[in-house]
Amino acid sequence: MSKIVLTGDRPTGKLHLGHFVGSLQNRLELQKDSSFDDIFIMLADAQALTDNSKNPTKIRDNIIEVVLDYLSIGLDPNRVTFFIQSQIPALTELTFYYMNLVSIARLERNPTVKNEIKLRGFKEKDNEQGIPTGFVVYPISQAADITAFNANYVPVGEDQKPMLEQTREIVETFNKTYGETLVMPNIILPKSNSANRLVGIDGSEKMSKSLNNAIFLSDDEKTLHDKVFKCYTDPSHININDKGNLENNVVFKYLDVFCEEDTFTRFLPDYNNLQEMKDHYSCGGLGDVKCKKLLFDVLNDKLSKCRENREIWKNKIEDIYDILEAGTNKAIKVSNATLDKVKTAMKIDYFNDKNTLINDWKNWLNG
Ligand code: TRP
Repeated sequence: MSKIVLTGDRPTGKLHLGHFVGSLQNRLELQKDSSFDDIFIMLADAQALTDNSKNPTKIRDNIIEVVLDYLSIGLDPNRVTFFIQSQIPALTELTFYYMNLVSIARLERNPTVKNEIKLRGFKEKDNEQGIPTGFVVYPISQAADITAFNANYVPVGEDQKPMLEQTREIVETFNKTYGETLVMPNIILPKSNSANRLVGIDGSEKMSKSLNNAIFLSDDEKTLHDKVFKCYTDPSHININDKGNLENNVVFKYLDVFCEEDTFTRFLPDYNNLQEMKDHYSCGGLGDVKCKKLLFDVLNDKLSKCRENREIWKNKIEDIYDILEAGTNKAIKVSNATLDKVKTAMKIDYFNDKNTLINDWKNWLNG
């Protein structure tokens, strides 16, 4: 069986380090692995519109920001098919049919959707402040995204686990009801636990644009420096000789995630590894400034390459247009083939073969 990857992001803002460790990093690994036949990365503009219906320009503008983020980290348009969700008619059609396989109660207990409804302040109202129907059913449209491309691997962050469970249930129900048609997808989660949910620079649970605590892939050097030096550490660690607390210390949480084998030889040869540095911090004698300086060096090393690539691609917007158009055309073809199979399985393929339908109807009428 071929190995196919599909994933995507809502183009509602620039991508940040949380996205990087949560899912982008995994994509970079997958693109290096030649055993994968196809890698689809989708700009989920239709999903973004489910809670941004009044703000279509924001979504349109952020498509280019997100694509620049993809290209700047090194996702390779020769290897990856990038496409725009709203331009793929099969996805809306599949969503419409899958809706019949999922109960409203099942949708309502999706923890990600529940949480997002709370975060967005939607109310139980039948007016404009109410929860948009499209928003409640977006897990079903996500099942369409995944199954339309026969994806068996879906690299996403921890928060998307309920979406994958929902998709797997839909695949199971569909195949049981209409015969083996859809491919069962598997989730690929980030390797380390701390990467699964990167905290914000303020120490709050999640890095997020709306919480204003994110380090963006496109941040310039000065912005990065300011943000690193604003990171929450240990408020009781006032003098260098005070014992430092590592728990909830954002600088060390980030170092845990971003330090590499050669980090200390390159940037801070006083220590052999992160554990030594942590021990020193806990015992007292190591100040926050030195730790922040290391974190800045580590992150800046990563992001400076991104910034360079971003500048190059920014001058090639015409090429990006062509990449997206070609990717979208390919995605239309692949998803239409799945839609055909689905319609045949559901016996709604009336005009595919004239004789079959005529014979079926004649047989029926003749009892
Ligand atoms: N829900 C995902 C997010 O918010 C985006 C997305 C839409 C997606 N469709 C998908 C991710 C299909 C993986 C597979 O980031």
